[in-house]
Amino acid sequence: MHKFILTIAGGGSTYTPGIVKSLLAKKEEFPLKELRLYDNDGDRQEKVAIIVKEVVKEFAPELKVLTTTDPETAFSDAEFIFAQMRVGKNSMREQDEKIPLRYGVVGQETCGPGGLAYGLRTIYPMAELIDLVEKYANPKHWIVNYSNPAAVVAEAMKKLRPNARIINICDMPVATIRNMAAVIGEDRNKLVVDYFGLNHFGWFTKVTVDGVDRTDEIRKHAIKHGLLVEDMTKVDAQHSDPSWIKNWKNIQYMMEMFPDYIPNPYLQYYLLGDSIVEHTNVEHTRANEVMEGREKRIFDAVDEYNRTGEVDLSSFYTGVHGQFIVDVAMSLAYNLRKRFLVMVENKGAVMNLPEDAMVEIPAYITSDGPEPIRVGEIPTFYKALIEQQYAVEKLIVEAAIEHSYTKALMALTLSKTVPSAFKAKEILDELIKANKGYWPELN
Ligand code: NAD
Ligand code: G6P
Ligand code: MN
Repeated sequence: MHKFILTIAGGGSTYTPGIVKSLLAKKEEFPLKELRLYDNDGDRQEKVAIIVKEVVKEFAPELKVLTTTDPETAFSDAEFIFAQMRVGKNSMREQDEKIPLRYGVVGQETCGPGGLAYGLRTIYPMAELIDLVEKYANPKHWIVNYSNPAAVVAEAMKKLRPNARIINICDMPVATIRNMAAVIGEDRNKLVVDYFGLNHFGWFTKVTVDGVDRTDEIRKHAIKHGLLVEDMTKVDAQHSDPSWIKNWKNIQYMMEMFPDYIPNPYLQYYLLGDSIVEHTNVEHTRANEVMEGREKRIFDAVDEYNRTGEVDLSSFYTGVHGQFIVDVAMSLAYNLRKRFLVMVENKGAVMNLPEDAMVEIPAYITSDGPEPIRVGEIPTFYKALIEQQYAVEKLIVEAAIEHSYTKALMALTLSKTVPSAFKAKEILDELIKANKGYWPELN
């Protein structure tokens, strides 16, 4: 059986040990010849690698693991590249969240002005990653990309690297499916969903299990409780942090008002923005929660290892995040044609949205990439919201490519999270200062 060379770019990520654990859980069906971890922060990479190597020792001691900051070593002959870079790391995430909040605007890593700031940091490093992979990797490689803000990254790579062998994915739909499955007491793998939208901006329209429509049961639960399930900690560790409990709960308010479709939790930032701002502590945002939680647990475990030589294998997050990227890779590797929600160019799948929009819809994942499924026409309310948000994403990508301050300002102004052009300008000017050295220059 063929064994694959797989590289994780952003190997110093807090998610790496969990992804590796998911990979090794499938080592019989998806065997690896070599696992490589690549990061541009060598120190961080080496620390996270301590945990990864323990995971490998436990589940596949025969597997060769290599860590590097050198692109040639990382990508030579690689067949799969999992990308998960956080350009600017959590200290810049904190800025993305706190700057807009100081102006009374939603502060979020992928939505609103914060998401656009993160986008401007990430577009060119992603293009560079693709170039390095194309230079060194197996010509039939696939890049499976989690790096956020995935909507902006997908739009930008469509324009800058149209021939790249990249699939942009997000774990939010599959996490939402996991909660919906818990609500109806089913295995998440049995749920077949219909869905349309952009990344972090979409709706489930139908859920079936064994051909039976179960949408109404989920809808009834969501109108009462959101997508909170009784014991979230049993369902998922990360998504049971206090801020995530609120996110699942907020689905209730969106469902009370718009009961037709089940929203992606991220829609709360656009539809419930004022309430979100009111309930957020500008001094302590999700970035702080992550730095004090998921990130700290990993680095504490490394310190513990350095003291005692023992690694606590419960110090990292495992769950749908790792399982999903491995499932997508296996469908690509073996032409399994499994149906997943991924980001693809619309090309008529949603008939009344722009042809060139990067939509998130169901697709069959084949060895040649995603084969999107036709969605048809969508109702006015959803179409209008999506078109506005897509224009925001398109404008921020154009701002990066054309070095245009005005287009960046248009993007912020058009975001549903921002109340006026005055506010947009104040926030943009502060974000420019905070992102010096990271953003393309805007004139
Ligand atoms: P993290 O900060 O723990 O790790 C990111 C790593 O990327 C760091 O080690 C950093 O040094 C590295 N990095 C930054 N720029 C790089 C570059 N140019 N080249 C190589 N490495 C680089 O972040 P995290 O919280 O673990 O998240 C990792 C990424 O995955 C983020 O982009 C996050 O937004 C994304 N993510 C996406 C989804 C999704 O649904 N699409 C889900 C979870 C996480
Ligand atoms: C979900 C989203 C990701 C996002 C993550 C943030 O999984 O799909 O796009 O990066 O949440 O999680 P965090 O724990 O870092 O706030
Ligand atoms: Mn996501």
